[in-house]
Parts: sequence; structure tokens; C-alpha cells
Amino acid sequence: MAELTQDDLMFRKGLMKGQRILITGGGTGLGKVMAEACLILGAEVYICGRRGGVVEAAAKDLTDAHPPEKGGGKCVGIACDIRVPEAIAEMIDTVWADGGALTGLVNNAAGNFISRTEDLSPRGFDAIANIVFRGSFFVSQECGKRWLKEGKHASVVSILTTWVWHGGPFTVPSAMSKAGLNVMTQSLAVEWGSRGIRFNAIAPGPFPTEGAWARLNPGAGTASEKKDPTIPLGRNGEMRELANLAVYLLDPGSAYVNGQTIAIDGGSHLQGGGGFNRLSEWGDAEWEAARSSIQSANEKDRAQRTV
Ligand code: HXC
Ligand code: NAP
Repeated sequence: MAELTQDDLMFRKGLMKGQRILITGGGTGLGKVMAEACLILGAEVYICGRRGGVVEAAAKDLTDAHPPEKGGGKCVGIACDIRVPEAIAEMIDTVWADGGALTGLVNNAAGNFISRTEDLSPRGFDAIANIVFRGSFFVSQECGKRWLKEGKHASVVSILTTWVWHGGPFTVPSAMSKAGLNVMTQSLAVEWGSRGIRFNAIAPGPFPTEGAWARLNPGAGTASEKKDPTIPLGRNGEMRELANLAVYLLDPGSAYVNGQTIAIDGGSHLQGGGGFNRLSEWGDAEWEAARSSIQSANEKDRAQRTV
């Protein structure tokens, strides 16, 4: 379901008219909400994911909620697996052919699950690193090559975690991969900044989504709880708060911000780290139950994949 209205956003109507944004993993969770904010503000938005039905349904849901006659832009869903460089090139060609260069990219697609590091198989490590670390790099590079060749300005925003600063026990492949993207952000902010391509990142604290909760808090119920006494501000993030920050970084209004990773976590990472340190108390039984709960979430999603 669509989540936002113009009233949730800090920006004037029509701010993003003429902007063209790709959001990887934009069919669900935070990616979908960022897509919605851009769409409400008039942008043309492309969202991708492996489950073709999910991205198409999301594009339709958002377009129905924010049609062009009410000032909305357009939203297009594309089935693409960003682990496959050839599939990325094909998707980016399709996007460019549909209306010209993108003006912004959000590296949002990710995979994650909690696991004791000693239990990870090579395929388990790769399942995460190939999406987050390699996939996000190749999408950025594929867009970057075209922007540089055409002399276009653009903004890239990568969705990281606060683990890039203090590590992520029990989520080591994710923490390592996100840390790699943090360094990509800093490196390309310099290498491509002089040619008009900015790189920034957002490090969210907990924003309840179905995808994250199934894999990080298995068996803990729905993704709807708001209060969390372990966070200095006492609650999880709200979708509109993240969407506003993403729009700010994508828009030329933030043209002098480059190479930054901004935490949006209620101050959580400053209070003893925001990771899964508490899982040190778990024994074999808890880990077996968590693994089986995560794997049934994976199976349910995999059955819907069309690529
Ligand atoms: C140990 C596990 C495991 C688990 C999977 N594996 N789950 N190992 N513990 N809980 C292992 C499998 O056994 C297998 O290795 C390998 O990983 C690949 O598993 P598949 O199910 O075949 O993988 P695949 O279909 O490619 O799915 C990728 C995925 C899945 C990453 C495992 O979770 C996924 O599609 N996720 C996308 C959505 C997602 O994760 N969203 C959450 C983002 S939240 P073997 O050797 O057995 O074959 C996020 C939040 C961070 O990042 C911050 C919060 C504060
Ligand atoms: P989510 O709903 O599970 O989003 C992940 C998205 O990535 C899904 O739409 C998934 O779609 C897509 N994806 C995964 N592998 C892909 C691939 N190979 N190719 C293309 N798309 C792929 O979870 P979320 O909570 O919204 O997470 C979004 C981002 O926020 C992630 O980067 C996550 O690390 C970050 N984050 C989230 C939180 C939080 O509390 N929610 C906190 C910190 C950071 P398919 O399965 O259809 O491919």
C-alpha cells in the first residue's frame, strides 16, 4: 500500500519535476517509500527487484495513489537481478532509452540475515556480498560510465547501516559489504565529484519493514512496532523521515554535500552501538529456530522471483 502524502514531505510540490531516479530494491520497504516520495514530488522513478510481480505491483500501487493529474511523476517497475552485471547493463540501457539520462540513483537493494559467523557457508556469505557489495558497485559504475560520457550531473545515494562505523556482530557479511560501499561513496565523491557526480549515503537505524524484520528479528512478529526503549529517542524510525532525507540528498538543493554518510537512527549508534551484540546470549536452540524462520521467509520470496 502507498504510505505517504505531500503533507509528509518537507518539500514543495513539483520539486523533482524533470528528475529521473532509479531505486534498486524499490518494490518493497524503504526503497518503495523513497520511490513514493520522489513520485509525489513529480520525478520519473524506476524501481527494480528480482520479483517481477512485486515491482510491477508496487509501480502500479504508487502510480494509482499519485497519478500525473495530481502532480505525480511516473513509476516503472523493472525485473532485474543486480548480482548479474549483464542484467544491470540491460536495465540501464532500457532506462536511458525510455527518456534519457538518470539524474539520480539510490543503491537500496540488499540481502541480510542474522547468523553466527562460524555457521556461514561460502554461499551464505556470497548471497549477501553479491547483492550489496558487488551489485551496488556495478549499478553505480554502469550509470557513472554513461553520465561521464554524456557530461551529465547526477546524485548517487547508497543506503548503508550504522554498522559501517562500529561493526555488525552476527551480520558480518552485511556489515563488511556496507562498509565497502561507505568507502565507495568517499572514493567516488572525489574521483567523479569534479565531473558533477555526487556520492552520499544514508545509514538508517531500525525502520520496521517486512523484509528486514523477517531476517533480523525472526519470530518477533510484525514490522509495525514503534517504541524501542533501547534507542535514545525511544522509538523506531518513521518512513517519511527517511524519505525526506533521501529527497534532500538526491535534489540539487544539496549540491554542496558530497562524500557524506548521514545516520538517521535516533542517536542509536552513539549509545553502545546499534548492532546485534545482545545475540551473544543465544544458544544452539535459538539459532536453529532463527535460521529455520529466516529460511521460510526466503523460500516465500524466492517462489515469486521472475528473474
Ligand atoms: C545461515 C543462511 C541463512 C541463515 C540463508 N542462508 N539464510 N545461512 N543462516 N539464516 C544461506 C543458505 O543456507 C545458502 O547457503 C545461502 O545462504 C543462499 O541461500 P538462498 O536462500 O539460496 O539465497 P538467495 O535465494 O540468493 O537469497 C538471498 C538472501 C535472502 C540474502 C539469503 O535473505 C534474500 O533474498 N534477501 C533479500 C531481502 C532482505 O534480505 N532484506 C533485508 C534487508 S535488511 P548453502 O551453503 O546452505 O547453500 C538490512 C537491514 C540492516 O539489510 C540494518 C538493520 C538495523
Ligand atoms: P527489503 O524490503 O527486504 O528490501 C530489500 C530489497 O532489495 C527488496 O525489494 C529486494 O527485492 C531487493 N533485492 C534483493 N536482492 C536483489 C537483487 N539481487 N537484485 C535486485 N533487487 C534485489 O528491506 P528494507 O528494510 O526495505 O531494506 C532496504 C535497504 O535499507 C537495504 O539496503 C537495507 O540494508 C537498508 N537498511 C534497512 C534498515 C531497516 O531497519 N529496515 C536499517 C538499515 C539499513 P527482491 O527480493 O524482489 O529482489
